[in-house]
Amino acid sequence: MTSVLKLAVIGGDGTGPEVTAEGMKVLRAVAKKEGFSVEATELDLGGERYLKTGEILPDSELEALRGFHSILLGAIGHPDVAPGILERGLLLKLRFVFDQYINLRPVKLFPGVETPLKNKTTEDIDFVVIRENTEDMYGGVGGFMHKGTPLEVATQTAIYTRAGCERWLRWSFEFTRKRNKRKQLTLVGKTNVLTYGHDLIWRTFQDVAKEYPDITTDYNHVDACCMWMIKNPEYYDVIATTNMFGDIITDLAGILQGGMGVAAGGNINPEPGGVSMFEPMGGSAPKYTGKNIINPIATISAVAMLLENAGYQSAADRVTKAIMHVTGTKMKSQSAGKMGYSTTEIGDIVCDSL
Ligand code: IPM
Ligand code: MN
Repeated sequence: MTSVLKLAVIGGDGTGPEVTAEGMKVLRAVAKKEGFSVEATELDLGGERYLKTGEILPDSELEALRGFHSILLGAIGHPDVAPGILERGLLLKLRFVFDQYINLRPVKLFPGVETPLKNKTTEDIDFVVIRENTEDMYGGVGGFMHKGTPLEVATQTAIYTRAGCERWLRWSFEFTRKRNKRKQLTLVGKTNVLTYGHDLIWRTFQDVAKEYPDITTDYNHVDACCMWMIKNPEYYDVIATTNMFGDIITDLAGILQGGMGVAAGGNINPEPGGVSMFEPMGGSAPKYTGKNIINPIATISAVAMLLENAGYQSAADRVTKAIMHVTGTKMKSQSAGKMGYSTTEIGDIVCDSL
């Protein structure tokens, strides 16, 4: 924690800049109440700039980002840019270059928020997914042979390293201990089919577990996890899972907590001096862009996570409490256009509730 929180803001595409504006409004308001200052630098990155100049993430900007403790990201994805270009060139590049090996995705049903699960309450839906964020099929290892011919071969290799598994799993055990709820860590994988890669993960999990006798360890295959998450979400405390499976199950989990308007995540490099990045889980929502109707709650939640990660715990708690007050007593719905308020009004009432 420092008396000045220095962060970079990448609004990005579509509704991204609208939601980061509300996140920053709340961040500035809470900083004022808690007595620290915020120095924010906005970076113009995303689909529009790429279409105009061909630049995605120039080295000079990447270097400049090293000087910040945190990044707040809005959304990446543009309807006129082919899939993969911005995702790989910007979002995944930032995750990899800054070695943000933890993707932390809390799944908490806030008061007043509707879940599609019948008879499940805020008590039942309260767990955390810790997704490994640098390995697996995301590593970009693979290629084509005989591309475009009937003999074409494509490979996309999943990479798992002992060191990569160890650092992510050790962090997951530490997190489960600090969270201090049920102290149960469920590893989610597919050891019955991925008999090399997930065997390495399983052995690493058992080895690291020996250092944490106070944590109950548990294992689910990923398909069974999807079933349990719907049937008995209260079963989960903390889940550790791989990059690809984590991507998939956190969309499922995100819907249980009220959808993309609410779900937030952090791409964390926990090492000293590490640059971490926080974002709403939803995309750029082109059809809602510029209408002032998108839900900024997920981004404001991402701001709370950013604050906690940067050491401003009481500011983080204040923001989370304000969010719960607003979802619990003010908002009609978490869906874009149905909140009972505009995007900017939600930002204002969260500030008023701090
Ligand atoms: C996410 C997103 C990204 C991912 C995409 C946009 C590359 O779906 O953050 O979950 O697959 O990790
Ligand atoms: Mn995803």
